Amino acid sequence: MSSGKTVLSVRDLKLYYRTRKGVVKALEEINFDLEKEDVLAVVGESGCGKSTLARALVRVLPRNIHTYEGKVFLNGRNVMELDEEAFRREVRWKKISIVFQGAMNSFNPVYKIGQQVAEPLVIHDNVEKKEALKKARQLIELMGMPGVFAERYPFELSGGMKQRAAIAMALITNPEIVILDEPTSALDVLTQANIINLLKRIKNEFRLSYIFITHDLGLASELANKVAVIYAGKIVELSSADVFYTEPKHPYSRGLIASVPTLTTDRKPEFISGAPPSLIDPPSGCRFHPRCRFAWDKCSAEEPGMIKVGEDHLVRCWLYGDGK
Ligand SMILES: Nc1ncnc2c1ncn2[C@@H]1O[C@H](COP(=O)(O)OP(=O)(O)OP(=O)(O)O)[C@@H](O)[C@H]1O
Ligand code: SF4
Ligand SMILES: [Mg+2]
Repeated sequence: MSSGKTVLSVRDLKLYYRTRKGVVKALEEINFDLEKEDVLAVVGESGCGKSTLARALVRVLPRNIHTYEGKVFLNGRNVMELDEEAFRREVRWKKISIVFQGAMNSFNPVYKIGQQVAEPLVIHDNVEKKEALKKARQLIELMGMPGVFAERYPFELSGGMKQRAAIAMALITNPEIVILDEPTSALDVLTQANIINLLKRIKNEFRLSYIFITHDLGLASELANKVAVIYAGKIVELSSADVFYTEPKHPYSRGLIASVPTLTTDRKPEFISGAPPSLIDPPSGCRFHPRCRFAWDKCSAEEPGMIKVGEDHLVRCWLYGDGK
């Protein structure tokens, strides 16, 4: 699926939030590469840092940032070095765009859909309003909706249609990379499937790379050729999708896969006991150790790094390499 050309390389990305209770270590040691036409699924439970990663990559950050550092190479250039003005002009929407979590419910109720889809073009590319509206209408049609929907208000569209419009908005500036943060959650199964098919078609047509954030492993398997599993702010497993779904190595990944119900076997879904930890004071050593049935002394004492267990397959767990 991928072409071998690296479009995005993330190195040691870290993001902490400041709160009244303390510093939330939401992301640490984030490292991955995205090649042209890759679909990297980022999976993990609620609160593990998926949306924080999305926001860090497009630098749409809340005010209470404590630490935001690392390197993000876009086509070989470290865009973390750009000031806000240059980042807005050259990167956000232009090269990397995003469908935010809950985007379909974030349209402004008083503006027509077409106007809102056109907005990034007007703001970021200084395109004339009329021209931008024309392109918005074309994209709305490309998303499988009648062009006249551009004239409708958000309340006149179904959830699935609004989500298509949100995807159109992310595409209007011709980006290379699109981040999709839970693009189908809160939609019924059939609408989900339609959106996934649409995303596949659009990806092939525009030769896009996606970062596809989801807590739904079944959905991820439909689209992704690479998987990053995040737990408590860190990537704990990174591999090709084929390897991940057939030979998951990290106990957390195995737990996630075992929790997916299947229609084809009698196997009962199993659940990972407990809940993800507070990121203000995460567990010592391996952050997963309080929930891991394989844990031993070393796991709470020392933190594992990413250990190579195969070609392009990394796992953050002492069970592998020389850890045991
Ligand atoms: N603005 C903020 N200030 C302080 N803490 C925050 C802020 N935004 C997120 N967090 C915390 O950072 C951690 C990661 O949150 P994030 O929203 O990235 O998780 P997520 O994986 O996207 O979860 P979900 O699946 O529920 O969308 C959580 O502990 C969350 O409470
Ligand atoms: S390092 Fe230990 S606690 Fe962490 S996932 Fe591996 S076995 Fe479990
Ligand atoms: Mg989220």
